[in-house]
Amino acid sequence: MELSITIFMSFLLCTSFVNGQYNAIFSFGDSYTDTGNLRILAGKTKNPPYDTPYGMTYFHHSTGRASDGRLVIDFIAQNFGLPLVPPSLSNQDFKKGANFAVIAATAMDPAFFKSINITGTSPFSLNVQLGWFDKLKPSLCSSEQECQNYFKNSLFFVGELGGNDYNAIMYSNRNVDEIKALSPQIVGTIIGAAEKLINEGAGTLVVPGILPTGCIPIVLSQAHNAPKEEFDPKTGCLIKPNDFSSYHNNLLHQAVQQLQSKYPQAKLIYAEYFEAVVDFILDPIGHGFTNGHGALQVCCGGGGPYNYNSSAGCGSPGSTVGDPATYANWDGIHLTEAAFQQVANGWLHGPYASPPIVS
Ligand SMILES: *[C@@H]1O[C@H](CO)[C@@H](O)[C@H](O)[C@H]1NC(C)=O
Ligand SMILES: *[C@@H]1O[C@H](CO)[C@@H](O)[C@H](O)[C@H]1NC(C)=O
Repeated sequence: MELSITIFMSFLLCTSFVNGQYNAIFSFGDSYTDTGNLRILAGKTKNPPYDTPYGMTYFHHSTGRASDGRLVIDFIAQNFGLPLVPPSLSNQDFKKGANFAVIAATAMDPAFFKSINITGTSPFSLNVQLGWFDKLKPSLCSSEQECQNYFKNSLFFVGELGGNDYNAIMYSNRNVDEIKALSPQIVGTIIGAAEKLINEGAGTLVVPGILPTGCIPIVLSQAHNAPKEEFDPKTGCLIKPNDFSSYHNNLLHQAVQQLQSKYPQAKLIYAEYFEAVVDFILDPIGHGFTNGHGALQVCCGGGGPYNYNSSAGCGSPGSTVGDPATYANWDGIHLTEAAFQQVANGWLHGPYASPPIVS
């Protein structure tokens, strides 16, 4: 009797959605999420971030991830006992998930940037990644009903995206008001993708905001001669880039809440990098970041006030690498595995997600 109950219970656990267990993870995004797609697209294994010291932690070889080790998506997959989400352009079994993210990807298409006189952005925008998802779908499930049931128990990540859009716009000499005027379109594109996935059956969707652009060492190092009043005295970050970053994040958070009201059958989660990075900077030691000058200095870089040097980027001659477990920032743009792990825990259990994924 007891045995048959146990068998019955484990049957239930395997076949239905119990306590936030997911059958698969599907993700869209840029270098904060890519687990190897750009590396495959570029056909390269030697240039950063395709070469060591990228991947020195955990993997002990480069994987195409823009970090020393695992990303948020990797920690979340491991938390749910799922395999690390394979890059969608690789030759693998995608039944337990696929990662469509590509380093440097934008939310908006190149046509949008062309319309505002910006060229040279990534061709692998969110629309292109959604197209890859559509193409992969027949190998995952056959009938519409089967797909709906399958995606209902899957965890979707729509982003982080938008960071590269804002960088491209910022470096085309737009002022903060001009940048903010474009935010509704960028947010609308991300939300449109989430809505498409909900209509395909997606049961749980995490929609992350962008990082505090004004705290990113590559941005800080280009502005380090700027007048003192351009910096926030509490964090040392640049005020204006953080202003449009939080403007975007607030719009996105509101839009996620509106989408949740529209689709009560789905679970929508707004997730934060911004607050996490600011917390690291305000209390680096409390987060274990004993090196890196208050979490603003880069672990793998080529000197200068933030240890970021564009002529000696991480992995290039002239750069050196510290102990990544003691730094928040890896290469001037991306976080270390140690920082990504804390972000992942904050998305799973709070405080960096509303509501937390495990809730
Ligand atoms: C783009 O550049 C053209 C030619 O320089 C100019 O006429 C136009 O106003 C610009 N458009 C925007 C949105 O900046
Ligand atoms: C940046 O790197 C270049 C090339 O290695 C080097 O010549 C230069 O001195 C570095 N600048 C700083 C500020 O360390």
